[in-house]
Amino acid sequence: SAGRIGVVGSNMIDLITYIDRMPGPGETVEAPDFQIGFGGKGANQAVAAARLGSSVMMVTRVGDDIFGPQQLRNFQDNGIDTTHVQTAPGKASGVAPIFVDASGENAILIVKGANAMLSSADVDAAEADLAACDVILLQLEVPLETVYHTIALAARHGVTTVLNPAPATPDLDIARLNGLTFFTPNESELATLTGMPTGDDAEIRAAANSLIARGIGQVVVTLGSRGARLVTQGGTVDIPPVPVTPVDTTGAGDAFIGSFAHYLASGLPPRDALARAARYAALSITRRGTQKSYATRDELAAFDTE
Ligand code: RIB
Ligand code: NA
Repeated sequence: SAGRIGVVGSNMIDLITYIDRMPGPGETVEAPDFQIGFGGKGANQAVAAARLGSSVMMVTRVGDDIFGPQQLRNFQDNGIDTTHVQTAPGKASGVAPIFVDASGENAILIVKGANAMLSSADVDAAEADLAACDVILLQLEVPLETVYHTIALAARHGVTTVLNPAPATPDLDIARLNGLTFFTPNESELATLTGMPTGDDAEIRAAANSLIARGIGQVVVTLGSRGARLVTQGGTVDIPPVPVTPVDTTGAGDAFIGSFAHYLASGLPPRDALARAARYAALSITRRGTQKSYATRDELAAFDTE
C-alpha cells in the first residue's frame, strides 16, 4: 500500500533562463531559451513522491497573486492533498529566477514571498494529519522556527522526519534538531553546519558523527556526481552514483529527497531507498525543467530497463 508523506515546506514559481553565459554588470546578452514552471524545494519533493505513488499532503502558503491558484491547481493535478495549503494574505508568491548553462549547471535566486509566512500555528492546524504520516519532509525555504516546531511535533508522534538543509544557512541551530531521523546535507552544508572540514572520507564521517552525537538519527551526505554516503551509529554505507549526461540539474536534489521519502515510506531500508533515489534523480537530470523533469512510476520503469 502507498506510504503517507507530509511535506512542510515551500512552493515557488521557477523562471528558468537557459544561457550561453551570464551577462556582466551593465551588459545585455541574448539567451537562447526560457521556461516557466512549478518549483520550490517543498513542492518539488512532494511532487516527486506523489508521481512515484505515495499519498502526499502539503503544508504550505501560496501567494495572494496570479500564481497562488496555479500552485494549488498544480498540487491537485499531481494528486497531492491540499487541505493544509493556505493563501498568505497580501503576499506575493515565492519565485525563483534560475539560470542554466549549456553544461546543465544552474545558478538560483529565491524570493521566499508567501513561504516566509508559513508558521508553527499552520503546522499545529495540520497536526492530526501529520501524525498519521509515515514520513515528514522539511527543507529551509520556510522560517526556521516552523522547521524546529515540526521536528518536535513529529518526534512526539513517533513520525520519521527528513530535513534537507537547503538552502544552507549558518543560522540553523543543530541543538533544535534533536529527534530528527534523517539529515541530508551536501559536503559544503555539512562543513558550514558543523564547522568541521569535509575534504575526505574520514573527515565527512567525523563531521556526520558529530551530528549523530547531538541527537540526529542518521546523516545522508549527498556528494553530487559522486553519489551519497549514509552515516549511522553502526558505520557508513556508500551509495554509488548513477552516471548520466546532464541536461538540466535544477531540482535533482529534490528528486533525490522526494523519492527517498517515497521508498522509505514504502518500507525499504534506508540504504536501498537511497540507491533507488539516486536512479530517480539521475533520470531528472536528463530532462529540462524542475517538476517537469520528474518521472512517473511508469517512466522510471522504462528507464530502469534501458
Ligand atoms: O531545488 C531547486 C529549487 O530551488 C527550485 O525549484 C527553486 O524554486 C528553488 O526552490
Ligand atoms: Na531536470
